[in-house]
Amino acid sequence: MDLSGKKILLGLTGGIACYKSAEFARAMIKEGATVQVVMTDGAKEFITPLTMQALTGHTVYSNQWDDQPDNKMPHIDLTRQADAVVIAPCTANFMSKLANGLGDDLLSTLCLARPAHIPFIVAPAMNAEMWKKPATQRNLNQIKEDGALVMGPASGFQACGEIGDGRMLEPAQMLEEVIAALQPKVLKNRRILITAGPTFEPIDPVRGITNRSSGKMGYAIARAAREAGASVTLISGPTALDTPYHVNRVDVMTAIEMRDAVMSHISHQDIFISVAAVADWRVANASDQKIKKNKNGDTPTLEFTENPDILASIAALPDPPYCVGFAAESEKLRQHAEEKRRKKGIPLLVGNIGHETFGKDDNTLILFDDTGTLELPHGSKQLLARQLIEQIAKRL
Ligand SMILES: Cc1cc2nc3c(=O)[nH]c(=O)nc-3n(C[C@H](O)[C@H](O)[C@H](O)COP(=O)(O)O)c2cc1C
Repeated sequence: MDLSGKKILLGLTGGIACYKSAEFARAMIKEGATVQVVMTDGAKEFITPLTMQALTGHTVYSNQWDDQPDNKMPHIDLTRQADAVVIAPCTANFMSKLANGLGDDLLSTLCLARPAHIPFIVAPAMNAEMWKKPATQRNLNQIKEDGALVMGPASGFQACGEIGDGRMLEPAQMLEEVIAALQPKVLKNRRILITAGPTFEPIDPVRGITNRSSGKMGYAIARAAREAGASVTLISGPTALDTPYHVNRVDVMTAIEMRDAVMSHISHQDIFISVAAVADWRVANASDQKIKKNKNGDTPTLEFTENPDILASIAALPDPPYCVGFAAESEKLRQHAEEKRRKKGIPLLVGNIGHETFGKDDNTLILFDDTGTLELPHGSKQLLARQLIEQIAKRL
């Protein structure tokens, strides 16, 4: 679980998006977090403390004068054990308080009194006109400058009936942001290019040859890299996966398209990770029209031509980024993977057994570099992706 053992202080202020915060709290609990809720009086007009208390299993605090857990001072004590303070939804009014250091209720005073090292995450939610106001934008800039991580807002249809910026992010996106905020920033300010998924090589306009790669490993690495603070571009073959939050995704179909996309994005990258299962061959005699059955029962003959080796071309550039390859083998992993690393001239190669992991949510990885091998034991692809990013950061 991504928030195992983490203590999150969740503050709710008086916006209509409070209804989403019930689901958000549950999502964090499902990931292993303990969630302590504090609500403004405004928030209590939108959702009852009872709901939040029942969902989180903890007393909800709201009043700085009356609420005194264990005879202590709630504005000081509630954040002392917290791993993060998250305000969702955050009203325009509360943003103004944060920007100006006001402490006129429990939640705003608690934000002032929180220890400086704790991640402070704010999810604005308001009507589009409120969001656009120069005062709100000034407050936004001030809050960011003061170190808050602002998530969203999203754009779209609003509860007031208007369309524009100001919607609070969905609970799943906010969950991803909180998880990311708690990861070590080992790739801060780094740029990283990742390929993922299979390629699709056409036979004719309606058929093609592909492979069983789902893209899950590459997408997990893209997510882990952005959690670690990198700016991530993901060049993806056809997959059914959602783009990880804050990752710039470029969709391609064929190996040639993937090569072209990699080449056009490679400059200024610090790291290139080739996770995609790129087809070794494409159909040389692909048809412009759908190939029809013929009455004699003749079957079409396909001819193949070799696809470019994207990873080897990047590794051979005059000033290449740090290159990491993936080898999906079906046997003799250790032998084939080390051979592949040397042939491609790359510092780090990650081996896995293709047919045991394609499409699955877990994997086992073996890292090969000049010093030897390192096994990352069986685990979820997301966990392994974070471990791999840590290993790459150590080698830069
Ligand atoms: C029905 C209704 C919906 C509201 N929705 C929002 C909202 O989404 N965002 C916001 O900034 N203010 C919203 N407001 C205004 C705030 O509730 C108001 O500014 C309040 O003083 C905020 O108090 P708080 O920041 O202490 O919670 C809404 C008010 C009403 C009556």
